[in-house]
Amino acid sequence: MKIAFLGKGGSGKSTMATAFVQELRARGVRVLAIDADHNMDLSYNLGAEPAIFLGNDPERIKEHVGSTRTDTYLNALKIAKDHDIVFALTPADQYTASVSIELEDGLRLITAGPHTDRVRSQEACSHSLAAPLKVYLPLLHLNKNEVVVIDERAGTDPVATGILSGVDLAVIVQELTVNSARVAEQIKSELRLTNIPHIIVNNKHAGIEIDTARAIEAIFAVRPLNVVTV
Ligand SMILES: Nc1ncnc2c1ncn2[C@@H]1O[C@H](COP(=O)(O)OP(=O)(O)OP(=O)(O)O)[C@@H](O)[C@H]1O
Ligand SMILES: [Mg+2]
Repeated sequence: MKIAFLGKGGSGKSTMATAFVQELRARGVRVLAIDADHNMDLSYNLGAEPAIFLGNDPERIKEHVGSTRTDTYLNALKIAKDHDIVFALTPADQYTASVSIELEDGLRLITAGPHTDRVRSQEACSHSLAAPLKVYLPLLHLNKNEVVVIDERAGTDPVATGILSGVDLAVIVQELTVNSARVAEQIKSELRLTNIPHIIVNNKHAGIEIDTARAIEAIFAVRPLNVVTV
């Protein structure tokens, strides 16, 4: 199961994603945490000082799957599928191991990373930092007791730019404000163009512990979240 946290800026995506990772770990689920936001809140919330960044060499995944650095991610994904290339967590394949940090047994972290010189010099768009996920996520095969938790950037960008391909459930975090609800609606309408189901969870309504507990309960109530907990 691959779950992405979406929502307006500041709505609580990273807070909820962190609580969800911790809850999964407490239940014995093996987790790949993916921090797709250049602010890196999920990484720091999990106590990591990341030094390996996906965004430092985002084109490498294309070569890894047998394409070229100048090819599109979409075409690289097609080539990878034709070659039956898959990624795995347990044990981690060579590419996964090279772009992630093992925080503890059963918890790995991939950090897209902060802006690079290529982004600053406008050679690359800031979306390039997380772009390898467009190839990586659809090809990542999970065992029954493995879950991927992705902390996304704010707003509709992650859906509209295709970074969510391969995701099984979108969790839209919403504050009790008109703007937050409006952005949630925008995300919902972008999601309609995909086949990714979503749930909306409220945050900053009843207090952080109650809100995160309710969100976690709502996520676990979703039928496709058919993971084995021990
Ligand atoms: N339920 C809550 N009660 C009180 N404060 C909260 C709650 N949820 C989140 N916060 C606080 O709100 C701020 C924004 O939360 P968070 O960083 O999780 O949001 P975000 O959606 O990930 O933001 P960004 O768009 O910047 O990534 C943080 O200071 C966090 O501690
Ligand atoms: Mg965040």
